[in-house]
Amino acid sequence: MDLLNKHLVLGLTGGIACYKSAQLTRLLTQAGATVQVVMTDAATQFITPVTMQALSGRPVYTSQWDARMSNNMAHIDLSRAADAIIIAPTSADFIAKLVHGLADDLLSTLAIGRTCPLLVAPAMNQQMWQNPATQRNLAQLHADKILVLGPDAGSQACGETGAGRMLEPTAILDAIMAFFQPKLLAGKRVLITAGPTYEPIDPVRGLTNRSSGKMGFAVARAAAHSGAQVRLIAGPTPLATPAGVIRDDVQTAQQMCDAVMAEIAETDIFIAVAAVSDWRVDQVSMEKIKKNGEAIAPRFTFVENPDILRLVAHLPKPPFCVGFAAESEELEKHGQEKRLRKNVPLLVGNLGPKAFGYDDNEVTLFDATGATPLPRMDKQALARTLIAEIAQRLTVKD
Ligand code: C5P
Repeated sequence: MDLLNKHLVLGLTGGIACYKSAQLTRLLTQAGATVQVVMTDAATQFITPVTMQALSGRPVYTSQWDARMSNNMAHIDLSRAADAIIIAPTSADFIAKLVHGLADDLLSTLAIGRTCPLLVAPAMNQQMWQNPATQRNLAQLHADKILVLGPDAGSQACGETGAGRMLEPTAILDAIMAFFQPKLLAGKRVLITAGPTYEPIDPVRGLTNRSSGKMGFAVARAAAHSGAQVRLIAGPTPLATPAGVIRDDVQTAQQMCDAVMAEIAETDIFIAVAAVSDWRVDQVSMEKIKKNGEAIAPRFTFVENPDILRLVAHLPKPPFCVGFAAESEELEKHGQEKRLRKNVPLLVGNLGPKAFGYDDNEVTLFDATGATPLPRMDKQALARTLIAEIAQRLTVKD
């Protein structure tokens, strides 16, 4: 419930992307926000107020002459209770209106009379987007501290291809959540490892583990939301890269180690979430290992992989290091031991079989003061809690 207690005015202007705003409304309410929909006349040509009312659970406003407000002041009152106004889609025409301060319908009047932040998600044909008039207007929106989300590039409903598509609803939701997050790590450079590693045995087989990457990706997203510059070194995982995060994909522990070491001098905070394979096969076969018709299974010798976290934490000038530890039993005992062995100020311990692949997690934080168990929560909420814990420790250290 990332947007719990947030009250949002969601404005829709005329454009085919209005169909995406139905989904956006759903996502916003699921995230805990109350959503007051306001539509321009043109928007009602694309999607009905009935649909938007059903999804938001509130009556929709379309006219500045709407008398439902007791004082007949919908154009003022609707935005006074809001934490933000989001206009998605925002047409080229409406951008021009915002720039010139026109107030000839309910939504434009709300925008000019607002006391809260305004976020806009433009949506228009690529030629309309490229037009110098739109680009001039866009520069003015930036100057007026209106947050512009997107647009995306790609195929458009009109059959053309280019920049101007409205961001997908999930990306708009992400940007709104980021907007409301306190910027606890503003300006900090954060390096994160995530996911499993894959150690080949031959060209078609290898060793890996059950890590999904969800926790590490959630930490990367939370760090980006808190204003950090985030680089994510990811083992094999199909997860999408969080917005604003730079991602390097690797396969093996050695590749992950090399990628980390290449960045570490430019890093303020290193968070090792990856489940790194402790061993690799000594001699990787160049060809697929075949059954030889006899009952003798192949035998492998293993060599130890570098312990990336340990290496980083033992550098002469290490960044602030955070480790994760998945234990199968006696978390309390092993967690503190591991923190000291790895030489990290903060270690996040969990019971691995109950964490790998799931959307939620229950962890204990280990630091010099002892062990602090946290309640079970979804990985995104946990990631945010962790970022706050790190930020607090950095402030104490600074
Ligand atoms: O020793 P263990 O594998 O339980 O330690 C877990 C922590 O160490 C995690 O933060 C993990 O990302 C990190 N690690 C590492 N390189 C390894 C093994 C673990 O960075 N080779």
